[in-house]
Amino acid sequence: MTTQHPTASGFSDLSARKPACSAVVGLQWGDEGKGKIVDLMAAAHDAVVRYNGGANAGHSVVVAGSRYSLHLIPSGILYPGKAAVIGNGVVVDPWKVVDEIDGLAGKGVDTRGLVISDRAHVVLPYHKLEDGLREDLLNRSNPATAEGGSGNIGTTRRGIGPAYADKCQRAGAVRMRDLLRRDALRERLSLSLAVKKPLLSGLGLTDGSSDVDLDALTEKCLAVGQRLAPMIQDTTQLLHGMLGQGKSILFEGANGTLLDVDHGTYPYVTGSSCIASGIGTGTGVPATRVSRVIGVMKAYTTRVGSGPMPSELKNETGNRIRERGREYGTTTGRPRRVGWLDLVATKYSVMINGATGVALTMLDVLAGFDQVNACTAYEIDGKTYDYFVPDAIELSKAKPVLTTLPGWSQDLSTVTSRDRLPDNARKYVDFLEKYLGVPVQIVSVGPGREQTMIAM
Ligand code: IMP
Repeated sequence: MTTQHPTASGFSDLSARKPACSAVVGLQWGDEGKGKIVDLMAAAHDAVVRYNGGANAGHSVVVAGSRYSLHLIPSGILYPGKAAVIGNGVVVDPWKVVDEIDGLAGKGVDTRGLVISDRAHVVLPYHKLEDGLREDLLNRSNPATAEGGSGNIGTTRRGIGPAYADKCQRAGAVRMRDLLRRDALRERLSLSLAVKKPLLSGLGLTDGSSDVDLDALTEKCLAVGQRLAPMIQDTTQLLHGMLGQGKSILFEGANGTLLDVDHGTYPYVTGSSCIASGIGTGTGVPATRVSRVIGVMKAYTTRVGSGPMPSELKNETGNRIRERGREYGTTTGRPRRVGWLDLVATKYSVMINGATGVALTMLDVLAGFDQVNACTAYEIDGKTYDYFVPDAIELSKAKPVLTTLPGWSQDLSTVTSRDRLPDNARKYVDFLEKYLGVPVQIVSVGPGREQTMIAM
């Protein structure tokens, strides 16, 4: 099968130009629709590179009516001839990568462009066990917190936190290259299991799982290493080689700025650096090489898992947006928490990422409301804040100060340019553009590539 690439409005201009390097990052709590934007922008770049996160991320991309769900493989894989690179900053579940390769191959997609950093850390089965057991224990032992939530983080249970923690612990951690060398692998696993076995049984693991059996795990890892061996290489050298040849690279941020381990709503965050600055550590390509940063945001806000969300709607309006936007997790299937657009939070994300432009997604979902609201300040303990407060305890006290704008009833899914949007939808976009202080360069009104307005 050849993958067809229908042209989105304005997209041909974009693909004709060869920019320097670009980045696509999420400005909210993940699930902003980055996959579609990366897929569109990939046309103008020679490689698409993931630099953070792991299989906690989930992208759905619709191409020529076929839906592709990707968790680890960059969506650039859908373009024949482009490199799709998993950088050293990603934590890789190699069995999941094999599943994704097989799934794509089954749909006729050529996956030979996939390359995985030899220094990326491996998410092992015991990381997922640890993630789930920790979450269960935290929930049981600390069911309510100062933030008013449950004690656990509400992780995706994909082993992300434990894998990044082991990376920082160092001894016994396994990197992709170790999957190709039996003795080193066995030695690392043996060290790791010396710690993991008592830890996991303390967390409540009762059965003699093969996931913590040294022989079984070593063989399992070597087998998956054999399968992925042709893809494992030094991606830092690969990327700098491409840059040296004048090629352009698109960096694909996973999760979202407000889930960033340093700049997000800690501790209700993921384990990695999701923002544009994560590119340097997660790939070895310095920040000075990235000249364009597109921040992706929905026309409203969603969040999965625990943690503060000032503009959350726990009412019929929220349910309506959730159903219209099909707001259920691609990775876990969990219903997402839904709220009005939080402009205070997104403005902070624009600032932290140095976003040069914004891609606004899911605008079509807001059709049918008499009025739409956007959160433009917070009130915390009687004081008004016009800037974001990442401290989770403070933020959990924030009451949203809403600005109300008139709604629109027209279906937007076939609108092809911003000036053809219904008046009130256009005013909404103009309003948020002015508030954020960066141009809205892409507006998406549906999952298809053609349901996109681009001005960049
Ligand atoms: P973890 O990354 O699985 O450790 O989960 C930590 C927090 O980040 C949880 O609240 C997850 O729901 C959230 N999270 C992680 N990745 C994503 C994502 O891609 N979209 C939305 N939420 C995410």
